Amino acid sequence: MSGKILIVDDEKDMLILLTRIITEKTDYDVVTTHNPLKAIEMLENQQINMVITDLKMPKMDGIALLDQVKKIQPAAVVVVMTAYATIETAVEATRKGAFDYIAKPFRKERILLTINNAMKLQNLARENKALLKSLKQQKKFFSIIGSSPVVTSILRRIEQVAQSSATVLIYGESGTGKELVARAIHYHSHRNDNPFITVNCTAMPEQIIESELFGHVKGAFTGAWKDKKGLIEEADRGTLFFDEIGDLNMSMQAKLLRLLQEAECKPVGGLTTKHVDIRFLAATNQDLTKLIAEKRFREDLFYRLNVINFQLPPLRDRKEDIPTLAHHFLEKYTMLNKKEIRRIDPEAMSALMAQRWNGNVRELENVIERGVVFCRSDHIELSDIFPEKSHIPPCFLFDQAIYDIPFKEAKENVIKAFHQSYILAILKESNGNISRAAEQAGLQRQYLHRLIKEENINAETFKGLRGKE
Ligand SMILES: Nc1ncnc2c1ncn2[C@@H]1O[C@H](COP(=O)(O)OP(=O)(O)OP(=O)(O)O)[C@@H](O)[C@H]1O
Ligand SMILES: [Mg+2]
Repeated sequence: MSGKILIVDDEKDMLILLTRIITEKTDYDVVTTHNPLKAIEMLENQQINMVITDLKMPKMDGIALLDQVKKIQPAAVVVVMTAYATIETAVEATRKGAFDYIAKPFRKERILLTINNAMKLQNLARENKALLKSLKQQKKFFSIIGSSPVVTSILRRIEQVAQSSATVLIYGESGTGKELVARAIHYHSHRNDNPFITVNCTAMPEQIIESELFGHVKGAFTGAWKDKKGLIEEADRGTLFFDEIGDLNMSMQAKLLRLLQEAECKPVGGLTTKHVDIRFLAATNQDLTKLIAEKRFREDLFYRLNVINFQLPPLRDRKEDIPTLAHHFLEKYTMLNKKEIRRIDPEAMSALMAQRWNGNVRELENVIERGVVFCRSDHIELSDIFPEKSHIPPCFLFDQAIYDIPFKEAKENVIKAFHQSYILAILKESNGNISRAAEQAGLQRQYLHRLIKEENINAETFKGLRGKE
């Protein structure tokens, strides 16, 4: 265990003795002072995990110092020592938040035991705080973001329907947040202590999906060498979410309908049925009424599922949510990538607003994640998120990262970056006219042509570009 201990005692011999005991027997760092006022200064300037202080000192007593520690570094544990041990002072010290109280003279073992216990407690408190923070963060990152009227109304409806056990069908294009809504319904319901289980109806062939869902008994088919619980049984008292329900084949649809009607399941090859208590949710990005007309989806199952339905709008229909979503993902990915990026440039933000977002929120999330990874400053620029839109890629001639790679490779990278930036800039300037670009740069036309080819640059894309600016 690591950590720093501050010892405060007006007797210098005591400081020396305690430092020796602690450094001989533990790995903790020790700092000392005989002046409590100096101790306050130290607490203000460095992280201290534990304070061992004498009680009677000329300038300030141990109880007053304890008060200061609790104000400046509340997480630090405090142990008070005194030669004048009385029950009253011991009680006062612990009442004010001291971890322990030691009477002088003490035995070496006694002080070491107290230090170890105090540091263990301190570490535990620190871990708990970190855990709590990450749980809060996780909760935050699973929340539905958006303040457009349509998202606000979805949030309100989620809370209303969560309390019931009605089946819910969630419609929406890919990436609009169908699974997020399904999870939110589960987490707002009384079932939230029990499992939320997703069944991906697209990914699995029929035999597998059946045994995944209903489970099987030993010997039911080749390879079933022991009993296996199905997802339905796992989801008992919780929520089962059928993702991409439109992809379920007709025979599985019949089995699902029976399950919804009877709330019973029987493992493949089994003889007995088991009653289950499950909330069913389903999502699709297909038009189920069209599938019904094409006889690819059972009408009775549709009605059974469609008790309540949610229509999640595509992102292009609620563009006002883009800035909030973008900042939400910025915070998420700067944290995950341990970077410090504070804002998104106005130019980059207008490009985000102008995008069509066929992949909806998921695509926006991916773009911001990519931006965070490529960002080299404290703000996201257009070139970080849409390099193809900014035309001139950042030249990393002086990037520190260059020193981490071997000289030869670094040199090639720098030359390549220089070629790219330079050529793109002169082509942009000359409107894609290679002869004019060569002249401006003082190069032979053939040489520039060769470079353009080597760098795989398409001069055509620059034609008419300047006129548009
Ligand atoms: N309103 C929102 N707020 C925050 N994050 C969102 C929102 N909508 C979607 N997301 C995020 O976008 C990603 C895609 O969402 P989700 O998986 O729920 O979409 P989906 O509709 O199920 O997509 P698909 O049809 O492709 O499965 C997830 O990472 C999700 O957290
Ligand atoms: Mg999904």
